[in-house]
Amino acid sequence: MTPRLIMKLEVSAVADAAPGVRVLTFRHRLRPTLPKPEPGAHVDLHLPDGRVRQYSLCGDPADATRYTIAVKLEPEGRGGSRWVHQQLQPGAVVPVSAPRNNFRLAEGARQHVLVAGGIGITPIAAMARHLARCGEAFELHYCVRDEASAPLLPELRAACGTRLHLWRSGGDVPSRFDPHRLSPLPQPGTHLYCCGPHRLVDAVLAASAGWPAGSVHVEHFAPLYDAGFVPEAFQLGIASTGATLEVPAGRSALDVLREHGFMHPSSCGIGVCGACECGYRVADGSTVIHRDVAIDDTARVHRMTPCVSRARGRVLLDL
Ligand code: FES
Repeated sequence: MTPRLIMKLEVSAVADAAPGVRVLTFRHRLRPTLPKPEPGAHVDLHLPDGRVRQYSLCGDPADATRYTIAVKLEPEGRGGSRWVHQQLQPGAVVPVSAPRNNFRLAEGARQHVLVAGGIGITPIAAMARHLARCGEAFELHYCVRDEASAPLLPELRAACGTRLHLWRSGGDVPSRFDPHRLSPLPQPGTHLYCCGPHRLVDAVLAASAGWPAGSVHVEHFAPLYDAGFVPEAFQLGIASTGATLEVPAGRSALDVLREHGFMHPSSCGIGVCGACECGYRVADGSTVIHRDVAIDDTARVHRMTPCVSRARGRVLLDL
């Protein structure tokens, strides 16, 4: 994983998009264009205290003059959204990474089905704008409490027209999205994308369990919820040096790597961004316990995220 370019970008506009949701636009003071984002990409915001937070880009990916993010205030969160809401005003300068994409549109797909819940609309909005501009076949299902709490709705209506289906869980006449409306056996070439709360993502994954491998794509905002997990100590081998490090039950492999001088890249620290992923091998009798939501099952055969993933026995990292 190569380190990403970090740019000092200026907040050029701030607007409230829904109760508790703020849309921020960033530009470079000198450069007219920024690294071009792909639909579904996110950037890292570097907070003054060293914390790093990921936010999906929700603007038009064809517009490389600016990056736009929408941030929902999470009063019980880890503090990133509070800082964004309280500190970022027009003129503020923030270190922002070049975009990275873990949530790509499938190349060559014939039909795209997009499903978003609440603030999960952010990467999906960029995808929908891109698909609409390219004239590709798609439908967007946007699940919200009510219209007033649906960020980016006017822009999406303008971009998507009748391809936007708005599902409301509240109001006088609720119209909830039923994941079972997804065809159990889709037309060949159909790809499904979902971003939102765990409950929506899990329901969509369950309803699409029979879809062909590789045709269902999800993006999580929150770490894996596995309250019953009991971490165990394990051994971490380093392929380049032959060293073996002991990872105690109460520490992460990433912490132990850092303690031993490995400047391994990382970002979220909670298994959602994929910045720390690296290759691994295990000997017979050992196994890796994947605890991230960043890398898919295919990649997990040989890649792991040392910020949250662990092992039983010994794992050899390709470092
Ligand atoms: S630092 Fe984000 S997944 Fe490990």
